[in-house]
Amino acid sequence: MNLSRRMFLHTGLMTGAALAVSPKVFAEPVLPGWHVGYANAPAEGFAPGPMKLVRGKAPAGLTGTLYRNGPAHFKHGDSYATHWFDGDGMVQRIAIGEGKAVHSGKFIDTQKRRLEMKANKFLAPGFGTKGDPSYPVGSSDDVNPGNISVMMSGGELLALWEAGSPYRIDPVTLETKGLKIWRNDLKGMPFLAHPMREPDGRVWSLAMNGSRVGIFNINPDGSTKDFGLVDIGAAHYIHDWTMTERKLVILCQPWIQTKNIPPFIDGFVWKPDEGMKFLIIDKDDLKKTRWAQGPARSFYHTGAAWEESDGTIRLDAAFYPEPILGTGGGADEIRGKYAGDTVTSKLTMTVIPTSGDVKMTETNIAGDFPQVDPRRHGLSRKLTAMVTGSVEGQPGGSALAVQNWSSGKAQIFDFGADYMVEENLFVPKGSGAAETDSWLIGTAINTKLGRSEVHVFDAAHVTDGPVAVWQADYAWPLGFHGTWAGA
Ligand SMILES: [Fe+2]
Repeated sequence: MNLSRRMFLHTGLMTGAALAVSPKVFAEPVLPGWHVGYANAPAEGFAPGPMKLVRGKAPAGLTGTLYRNGPAHFKHGDSYATHWFDGDGMVQRIAIGEGKAVHSGKFIDTQKRRLEMKANKFLAPGFGTKGDPSYPVGSSDDVNPGNISVMMSGGELLALWEAGSPYRIDPVTLETKGLKIWRNDLKGMPFLAHPMREPDGRVWSLAMNGSRVGIFNINPDGSTKDFGLVDIGAAHYIHDWTMTERKLVILCQPWIQTKNIPPFIDGFVWKPDEGMKFLIIDKDDLKKTRWAQGPARSFYHTGAAWEESDGTIRLDAAFYPEPILGTGGGADEIRGKYAGDTVTSKLTMTVIPTSGDVKMTETNIAGDFPQVDPRRHGLSRKLTAMVTGSVEGQPGGSALAVQNWSSGKAQIFDFGADYMVEENLFVPKGSGAAETDSWLIGTAINTKLGRSEVHVFDAAHVTDGPVAVWQADYAWPLGFHGTWAGA
């Protein structure tokens, strides 16, 4: 942990004073303020409670619910989770309307959580967890923490993992209602945590299974329209992907699984000589495919893509020069330590020509969690929002950036050293509103106060700062992704 000298002295003084009073207090570690983002949430969750408007005023017409998901349990007794991605999933719900914001949160009721809470220890194998041999594993859903994202489908709220089924969640009470089975013959099929939604409401998603990838095509009412298979040649690590109006695009980074035993991330090997391969699939005929070759990059998240009239595909993503959050990812942060990032990503525009190699152009925006206007998913657009900024000695981002691809310029608002900023979502101000005529809504942790906040920006004026900030009396752990359900 990169403690400043002042903090080191403060810590020493505090522990010295405590020693004179109580050896027990001396033994307690002094955790940095940002650690609230990696601490256990209350087992009973967060009952619905009002958040306080602490800046600006509630935007007129902003009515709906922000749902977010992320790991929220990292410690049983004296044992810590060995990877950030393996914490039990918790859905946060922030209902906004009539100028008010109300927060609630609830753990997803999984087999993993039930057995581990009963035993008060980690048992299940996982992404970065070896697991206890006694733990019963009949299918991937037996270890499924449901902790990456959420989506609305046919009126249902689904909590998503990437190697198992979605969980059906009551959108009001957040009670878990069971696993989502898309179709009887697809029972237990993995469903990626980054589904792609067409502007008309249809959803595409992937089922990762080594080198064979299933492709879901879901109707707006939640029924399954179709399911197909493609072969990507090797078991690449695929967390996210993208699409245009007519094509699906699978980015095959050279982080390739060579053994399939827990902890699973240990089986992935970085092979930069292979570069990144792009599989482009015709939406109307999954057998019509072509490959394109690009330089080696690692990534977790794309923004979105579109296709020019000549067939050239453009897509933006947060690309890293090599993998991050591999073996032991986040394990230090869970213990309140932070050694700093050795690798940073850049928001990058990628051009896939109709023939020849892929070209990549980096911006100078470092960060992750790119997001676009949901009405422009797969279509040409100007804007990409992204978490950026950094604070020495503290994980996560401190700022929100909105890149304008037309002007080549970005608007950035940095909250400063007391914040960890999370993903921001575009919420159009109306169905006919321009892309820039949107709100950006997201969460952050005020690390100085130890409180979570909800921020609303005007997408056209990000540098002015949030137009409204609601603050809870407490912090909930950092999450990964969310969705906005308008009223
Ligand atoms: Fe993700």
